[in-house]
Amino acid sequence: MAYPLAVDIGSGVTKLAWYSDPTKKKVEVADFPTAAAEFPGGVADDIYDPDAYGLVSYNGTLWAVGDETGSLFRPNQRVNSLSGSWAGSPGWTAILYAAIARAFPDGGAFEVLLSTGLPQAVYGAHRKAILDHLNCKHQFMVGKREYEVTMQANVMPQALAALLHEATGNAEVMNYQSAVVDIGTYTTGYAVLHNGRLQNWRSNGIEVGVSALTQALARWLDDEKGLKVDPAIMPEVMRSRSVMFRDERLDLTEIIGQLATQVAKPIEEALIAAWDHGANDIARVFISGGGAPLFEPAITRIVPHARLSADPGYAVVRGLLTFLD
Ligand SMILES: Nc1ncnc2c1ncn2[C@@H]1O[C@H](COP(=O)(O)OP(=O)(O)OP(=O)(O)O)[C@@H](O)[C@H]1O
Ligand SMILES: [Mg+2]
Repeated sequence: MAYPLAVDIGSGVTKLAWYSDPTKKKVEVADFPTAAAEFPGGVADDIYDPDAYGLVSYNGTLWAVGDETGSLFRPNQRVNSLSGSWAGSPGWTAILYAAIARAFPDGGAFEVLLSTGLPQAVYGAHRKAILDHLNCKHQFMVGKREYEVTMQANVMPQALAALLHEATGNAEVMNYQSAVVDIGTYTTGYAVLHNGRLQNWRSNGIEVGVSALTQALARWLDDEKGLKVDPAIMPEVMRSRSVMFRDERLDLTEIIGQLATQVAKPIEEALIAAWDHGANDIARVFISGGGAPLFEPAITRIVPHARLSADPGYAVVRGLLTFLD
């Protein structure tokens, strides 16, 4: 029996979804930072924490993955998750193995039915190579647990997966024209589907996402308040939309809204150019990704009928899992 597993390795956050029961009723989701760094010395005899999900070894290499990376390596020692050749690279593979261990923590030999996504911008060029890389037997260790995973993989554009997620509640989504704008950490992908088929000429991505807004906010706090915030706690500031200033909690909702309008300009321009007849012929437009709530007001100025996906942060990975049914 093969276990279904969906893994969405984003530029900033890796999301996974799997079934925690054999009847496939209960979907579990989890995430960890998309970060990996290779130990220069290769595999150590003595792994300091045998239970760590973030210590991955394979082919004689040893990797720190996810939160483990942040505590052991400097930011400039991490592999670059933004390069065009990131998907399928050794660091990407270590992250995939960590995700498998997160869903199936006991180790051992088993089969995995994997569903994973690629950004629209690299899908065409990388799909075949990724499939060849994934469809085989994978031997690796996570912490001290050994894995021998026979993989059968499916790869699709991330944006298509986000639409599949919407289609579970409403089959109409796959008819006529539907679109998604997926706002991630470093990138925003957008895609239009016509009768379930991707319209390539109206689908692409740009390198603007939540991190640009985070940087703009950090700059504003420094310039306007003289407050230098540790980059490591900026994600928490973004989530709570507030920050401690001396002994006072500052509400940042309004300034985040204003900065989002500025940061979203290139996204708006890309959408106007790609959907040049306006988006009025597109029946449904969904906004997904971790940045969806932050950028929704900016997107709806260009596309008034766009609305948030259900569970936007996990829309892609939930759609990837749906595909395996
Ligand atoms: N509720 C929230 N409020 C503010 N920011 C959030 C919230 N939830 C997630 N984020 C931010 O959204 C980003 C993650 O979004 P997502 O997981 O869609 O990106 P990704 O898939 O890694 O990136 P990409 O799709 O560009 O490869 C992170 O920067 C995270 O801090
Ligand atoms: Mg993403």
